[in-house]
Parts: sequence; structure tokens; C-alpha cells
Amino acid sequence: MMSPVVPADHSPPRSFKRRAGRVTPGQADALERLWPLFGVCIDDTPVDLRALFGRCAPVVLEIGFGMGEATAEMAQAQPECDVIAVDVHTPGQGALLRQVELRRLTNVRVGDGDATTLLRSMIGPDSLTEVRIFFPDPWPKARHWKRRLVDEAFASLVAARLLPGGRLHVATDWEHYAEQVRRVLAGHESYDLVDEVPWRVRTRFEEQGLAAGRVVHDVVAVRR
Ligand SMILES: C[S@@+](CC[C@H](N)C(=O)[O-])C[C@H]1O[C@@H](n2cnc3c(N)ncnc32)[C@H](O)[C@@H]1O
Repeated sequence: MMSPVVPADHSPPRSFKRRAGRVTPGQADALERLWPLFGVCIDDTPVDLRALFGRCAPVVLEIGFGMGEATAEMAQAQPECDVIAVDVHTPGQGALLRQVELRRLTNVRVGDGDATTLLRSMIGPDSLTEVRIFFPDPWPKARHWKRRLVDEAFASLVAARLLPGGRLHVATDWEHYAEQVRRVLAGHESYDLVDEVPWRVRTRFEEQGLAAGRVVHDVVAVRR
């Protein structure tokens, strides 16, 4: 099968709102000291993944890591994988950098910016082993559904960056969003939905959803 084609940039509304959040002194210190070592600015410059991690290993992209606890725990448990974790939330970036240092992780890089820009302009075709999106902003109101990250155009963009056999794993506690993701991926020519859910760590937003009585859905698709 030919590699999936990147859709034209239709500039959808952003899937995130930059949240004002207090950066603690510990996070500020981590950002100042560790960003030059582990930080990735999201712009339009293509990134050389081998050079970024200093080795050739399977690369996982996590979009929207929040405070990064699950990201760090998974990276520690999977030292054979390299992880680019991207979010726009500054306190979370500081928190994840602290975890990288505390756990002595060498396989994590932290991106600051919109993951769609990273995918479109910085990562080459057939590069990623897995894309993880755990508890994306649900945008529950109908007038905001267009802001949801996972739609047809996004699925095509991810497919163009995944290796054949690579995986897109989306977890959400919003039934309506889960249905949307399933529908988009089931109808997409580049993916097969699979039943087997890979191991992952429970996240902060997941805990909140469970505490509120919501049910968690993991949707996993493999690139053809
Ligand atoms: C609801 S939080 C979930 C955080 C974490 N995954 C968890 O489960 O605890 C969603 C996160 O995705 C980030 N986000 C949303 N759209 C994004 C995008 N296009 N690029 C980077 N981060 C994004 C938001 O800033 C937010 O931190």
C-alpha cells in the first residue's frame, strides 16, 4: 500500500485552550535547567529523531500529557522506546522535566506547542511506532465538537507519520468522543481497528473521570 497522504492544512480550530496555571518554583527551576537538554520547540523545522535521542529506537509520540506522571512512568517501564511528549501547558512541561530528572530518564523529550504542527511540519513520513492520546480535551458541547483533536483530517495526518503496523491509541471517558474516534478510524482507509488494548498507566484525567462515574474507552487502530 502507498504511504498515506498528508491532507492539505485546513487550519481547524485549535484543540486546546492555553490554561493559565501557576508554575511552581520547582517547575520553574526544572524548565530553566532542563529545557535546554530535553525541550523541543514546536516550529516548522524538521526534526531528526535519531539525532534528537542519540540512538535509533522505536519512537512514540504522546499528545497532551497534562502533568506528565503517566508519561514518565511509561517511559521508565519501556526504556526500549523513545518518547516525544507534547503539550502547551507550561506547569506540566516543568513537572514532566522534573520527573525526567528524578527518574534519570534518557528516552523522553518534551515538546512545547501544537502537536498538529509537529506532525505536519517536523516529523517525516513513516517515522512513528505509536501515537498516544490519553484523555484529549473532550469539548462536550455540540458547538465545540469541531475543536476535537481526532477527526478525519487528523487521522490522515497521523497515518502519514506512523510506520506501517504502527498504532494510534486514544483513550477517553467521553462516550460521544469515543464513538467519534471509533467511527473515524473504522471508516479510514489507512487503519484497522483492533481489540487488543496495549498496557498503559492510569492518568490524572482518567482518575477524575472515574471519580465522576464515567466509563473509560480505549480505541486502538493499526496503520495498514
Ligand atoms: C484533558 S488533558 C489530559 C492530560 C493527560 N493526558 C491526562 O490524561 O491526565 C488534555 C491535554 O491535551 C493538551 N492538548 C490539547 N490539544 C493539544 C495539541 N493540539 N497539542 C498539544 N497538546 C494539546 C492540553 O493542553 C491538555 O493538557
